[in-house]
Amino acid sequence: MRRISIFGATGSIGVNTVDLITRQGGSDAYDVVALTGGRNVARLAQQARDLRADMAVTCFPECYTALKEALAGSGIAAAAGPDAVAEAADRPADWTMSAIVGAAGLVPGLRALRHGGTLALANKESLVTAGPLLMQTARDHGARILPVDSEHSAIFQTLVGEDPAAVERIIITASGGAFRDWPLDRLATATPAQAATHPNWDMGQRITIDSASMFNKALEVIEVQEYFGVDPTQIQVLVHPESLVHAMVGFRDGAIMAHLGAADMRHAIGYALNWPDRANLPVERLDFARIGQLNFRDPDPARYPALVLARQVMATRGLAGAVFNAAKEAALDAFIDGRIGFLAMAEVVGAVLDRVSHETSLTNAVISLDNVMQADQLARDCAAQIIKKSKQY
Ligand SMILES: NC(=O)c1ccc[n+]([C@@H]2O[C@H](COP(=O)([O-])OP(=O)(O)OC[C@H]3O[C@@H](n4cnc5c(N)ncnc54)[C@H](OP(=O)(O)O)[C@@H]3O)[C@@H](O)[C@H]2O)c1
Repeated sequence: MRRISIFGATGSIGVNTVDLITRQGGSDAYDVVALTGGRNVARLAQQARDLRADMAVTCFPECYTALKEALAGSGIAAAAGPDAVAEAADRPADWTMSAIVGAAGLVPGLRALRHGGTLALANKESLVTAGPLLMQTARDHGARILPVDSEHSAIFQTLVGEDPAAVERIIITASGGAFRDWPLDRLATATPAQAATHPNWDMGQRITIDSASMFNKALEVIEVQEYFGVDPTQIQVLVHPESLVHAMVGFRDGAIMAHLGAADMRHAIGYALNWPDRANLPVERLDFARIGQLNFRDPDPARYPALVLARQVMATRGLAGAVFNAAKEAALDAFIDGRIGFLAMAEVVGAVLDRVSHETSLTNAVISLDNVMQADQLARDCAAQIIKKSKQY
């Protein structure tokens, strides 16, 4: 039986992963090694019971007692804290879903790769903060990373059987998020609740707000560079309000291969779960006559400054991704808490990138876990100072 673990099982990607695993036979078909979550202890315990997991881990030590109680009598081991999450990744699994949100997903992902199995990577922050380290770890241990972001899964699928050297450009699409049709001068007043609604996708709160600001797309552009090794000039973003074309790859003979599908993450998750086969997945089949038309336009840099910052990060490389992601996480926390406005998020991240790159060379640094952690902390401290000092935000 295939041994599987799910990191971030209680989140949006995690729940969809559990849904597919359950539909594909659950504990009769899979040996579930570990499930991890955070505050949603009741859901984590229920998932662990349903899938007969060996262990369940919450990343929050204060949730340990509740988890232990919820698992009482089940024989399922309970543990808590970031170290326990990392240790759960030390338990050998053949397939691991990396669906923790934020930079916290990096260490469990690195540890899981050491088993030489498959890491289904939804946690884009890992690639943005430490792409070369993640890829090298996979190579060193004969492990495979399969992308779970819909755009990157689409690119991956489009490239099957193709010569990577024949790729001319990669286009990823963006819905434009909650505010794509708002007048620019209204954006400064946007609230976290307004930003946390997505026109097409049903996702976690943080990634939904990141979609409204296009920080999510900025992370994804960097992810394309890290995953597929193309030059930044070959990567293009298009606003595509229907969210049906996820990515397109243009080849040197002028052909363009597009990947289309319903806005349902179970496609990308199911592809990674069943790769190299294709399973019968419970996703909507597209009816093109009903859809009628597909629209595309260039993103407006004034509306989406995060995309401009992503270009700066790709040009700098090195530890710039770690700084960018950490500053983005700090700015997002501040926006969610009402400490800064919607537009200030990009201003804070830009200011952190400028300040940190003046203080230290980001470009030539070795991408080790220690260096990545240090850059992450430096960026969070710097963001905190900027957010605190700047009344104009
Ligand atoms: N949602 C999507 O459609 C989508 C699409 C593409 C890529 N992704 C990527 O997939 C990842 C997960 O996204 P999501 O939308 O599923 O997020 P989510 O709904 O917020 O779920 C995040 C998961 O991580 C847990 N968690 C939160 N903080 C943690 C920490 N510090 N340490 C360990 N675990 C922690 C959460 O636990 P509790 O909820 O129990 O507190 C939950 O299980 C992100 O990197 C995102 O960018 C998501």
